[in-house]
Amino acid sequence: MLTMTIESSCDETSVAVVRDGREVLANAVASQIPIHQRYGGVVPELASRNHIRNIHAVVDDALAEADVDLEDIDGYGVTVGPGLVGSLLVGIETAKGFAYAFDKPCVGLNHLEAHLTTVLLELEDVPTPEFPYVGLVVSGGHTDLYVVEGLGEYTLLGRTRDDAAGEAFDKVAKMLGLPYPGGVAIDRLARGGDPARHAFPRPMLNRDNLDFSFSGLKTAVLRHVEQQGVPEEQPLADLCASFQEAVVDVLIEKSLRACRQQGIDRLVLSGGVACNHRLRHRARVECDQQDLTLFVAPPRLCTDNAAMFGPIAEEYLKRKDADHFDAHALRARATMSIGDDSLRQTSSSHR
Ligand code: KG4
Ligand code: ZN
Repeated sequence: MLTMTIESSCDETSVAVVRDGREVLANAVASQIPIHQRYGGVVPELASRNHIRNIHAVVDDALAEADVDLEDIDGYGVTVGPGLVGSLLVGIETAKGFAYAFDKPCVGLNHLEAHLTTVLLELEDVPTPEFPYVGLVVSGGHTDLYVVEGLGEYTLLGRTRDDAAGEAFDKVAKMLGLPYPGGVAIDRLARGGDPARHAFPRPMLNRDNLDFSFSGLKTAVLRHVEQQGVPEEQPLADLCASFQEAVVDVLIEKSLRACRQQGIDRLVLSGGVACNHRLRHRARVECDQQDLTLFVAPPRLCTDNAAMFGPIAEEYLKRKDADHFDAHALRARATMSIGDDSLRQTSSSHR
């Protein structure tokens, strides 16, 4: 089965062709980072306008890379949320248009769920985890810990009570005058810095739960900058490394705690922040020490892309009860929880 998946929830326009939910034949991504960089963050109106401009070229790129035609596609999967509504609509209308024109099914998909299940793709050097696994989704909008029992079977263990980890990276980077996306800039600078130079707080670390909080940490950096100014060169690298270390400490500690509490020895990291070098390194070392197996996709599949929807697109297209053209299911959603059954439990078709 060949699926085309389309992702346009934020500032990446991406189209993938995936075979049998596992094999990525193409994963074309048009990034809008240069467009939004001058504003220090994503401007929703510009994002949707540029999705419209890019989407058909990205579809063509994906088809060329996969060496297939639209006629060969057996079904479509498209992000319906959570995300920027104007941006989501571009992907949704494109997928609906193709599905309608070629008389093929189309399912609406959850962006978070795609991050959480990306590792089920066939990946070079990364084995496929068995179920159940503990999954951390750590992105610009989310910091959530789940137990994944199977596709569509998720139990939330903990989540951020305020900022997401990626959001904290982006806001701290902005305070330090670093370019968007801030996580990338901090990661790069931190590599030459001393993570023990500043003792920033590790929010929620000692609380007996699996929730996170990053807003206090962000404020601690703000206070530091207010008192001492924005540093340059080595002190800037030290500040970045110290902030990053505080985030990484909390993410690792809570993820490992989740594995212990659940008696599960497989940990999956996903989402844009899972590109972070320090997080990947520390996770590898600590999982080794605690006899846990770590699964993390290569960075290009951790940031937003359409291939990550391959496993869930295939699964939901195959499920008989999926109402392929339900207008309600193919509606853009700004917020959406991962177990949002409104996607698949509707019975009336509006086709
Ligand atoms: O998953 P993603 O591409 O989009 C969302 O679903 O939000 O994640 C984007 C987030 C941004 O906050 C970005 O700063 C962060 O991921 N990010 C990183 C790194 N690369 C991207 N954070 C830390 N270190 C990185 N190397
Ligand atoms: Zn994402």
